[in-house]
Amino acid sequence: MGFNPLKEKGIPIEKQLLSWSELNVRPYDKNKVHPYTRTRIIFMNGIEVEVAMFGHQFHRHTDDMELKRKLALTRRVEQQQQKAINWLIPANESGLEVTIGYEQVAVDLTAFLAQTEPDPYVKAALDFALLEDFDHLYRYSNLLTITNGKMPDEITGPYTEITVGRPTVLEHRHPFDEIRKHYDAKKADPLTKLHVHTIIAAEQQTMNFYMNIGNRPGQMLGRGLYLEIAQIEEQHVTHYGSLADPRATWFEMLLEHELNECWLYWSLMQEEPDSYVKGIWERHLGMELEHLKIAGELLKKHEKKDPAEFVPSSLPDPLSFHSNVDYVRKIMEEQTDYNAHETNFVPADKMPEGSRYFMYQDVFNAGGTPSEMVIEERIRQKGSDYRQELSGPHPLEKFRTTPSKGKKKARRQEESRV
Ligand SMILES: [Fe+2]
Ligand SMILES: [Fe+2]
Ligand SMILES: [Fe+2]
Ligand SMILES: [Fe+2]
Repeated sequence: MGFNPLKEKGIPIEKQLLSWSELNVRPYDKNKVHPYTRTRIIFMNGIEVEVAMFGHQFHRHTDDMELKRKLALTRRVEQQQQKAINWLIPANESGLEVTIGYEQVAVDLTAFLAQTEPDPYVKAALDFALLEDFDHLYRYSNLLTITNGKMPDEITGPYTEITVGRPTVLEHRHPFDEIRKHYDAKKADPLTKLHVHTIIAAEQQTMNFYMNIGNRPGQMLGRGLYLEIAQIEEQHVTHYGSLADPRATWFEMLLEHELNECWLYWSLMQEEPDSYVKGIWERHLGMELEHLKIAGELLKKHEKKDPAEFVPSSLPDPLSFHSNVDYVRKIMEEQTDYNAHETNFVPADKMPEGSRYFMYQDVFNAGGTPSEMVIEERIRQKGSDYRQELSGPHPLEKFRTTPSKGKKKARRQEESRV
């Protein structure tokens, strides 16, 4: 029997508001937490942030007082959920250590979604950005080793490879080339919608996080790396944000957000080994079932639409955090050199002549590129870059021994066209 979220019993909304003592959760032990418990916490914090901010935007776009009040009540709960989750992160885990967790989320979440995504274009979009976040993990990891000497694999565990992806220096594109085509909400598989909402929220949280903590490092190199990668996260939020059908109404979008939360808590509670954290996922699922019901009633009342037409009678297979080494390697082999032109993903040698990409590369990378400098600095200090290659040497010969020569390569491609 499948799990029909519209038929399951939730926690009545008036019973959902909690006390400070219930919300001020016990942080995990950073030396004992399972890496994927950490990623689930980072991830679900991002989901709650998106739902809260969506609720604010909806509220600012309606003049209906009763609706504003209903949105405020649910939104207050979303904010409490966000605190209960984000406060699980302990004070002694530094911003940079948490950043490694953020990029591990990006790698293993994106790889999971890509492997289960029914729409080929959405899958291509996931594969495309996967290789970029994969490279971010490598750059931040190298920064960590020269900042406080901590080994990044103590954070990620033996699950996620840390090595060169699509070199970050090559990821900086013209904004026009980050806009994608959107799916058709009337025809799309429910799983595609869930995937797209999920990845938008996760990438948006990464963008927000770097926007705020990117100025915390004391050294210019670390500050530079955050600002450079923060701009790629802006690209990723644009890239993924354009996949969702913008013609959905506010009420439909509210329902989609609540459905997504139901699917995610239901998924994560099934695989969570930490009983304390699992208890939070279970409690939040009970709350989300009620939010979904409320969103469905609003859809019925304001637009005369049946929520059952938007909610699958059985949730799709659960989302899962696990190791994706072989998949990431396969995509690396096939697509590292891919670039984007308008809504298409194209191999580097098929980029149109005189593309605005090269002009933008020159603008951004004039005066040095922090994501390259961090590897050079690591080599200067320790003699080699830091990697965690779990399945043998790098799948691409050109990345096996030396750090990325991405920038020089971009230049060569450009020069060969002139
Ligand atoms: Fe929530
Ligand atoms: Fe990233
Ligand atoms: Fe990203
Ligand atoms: Fe919710």
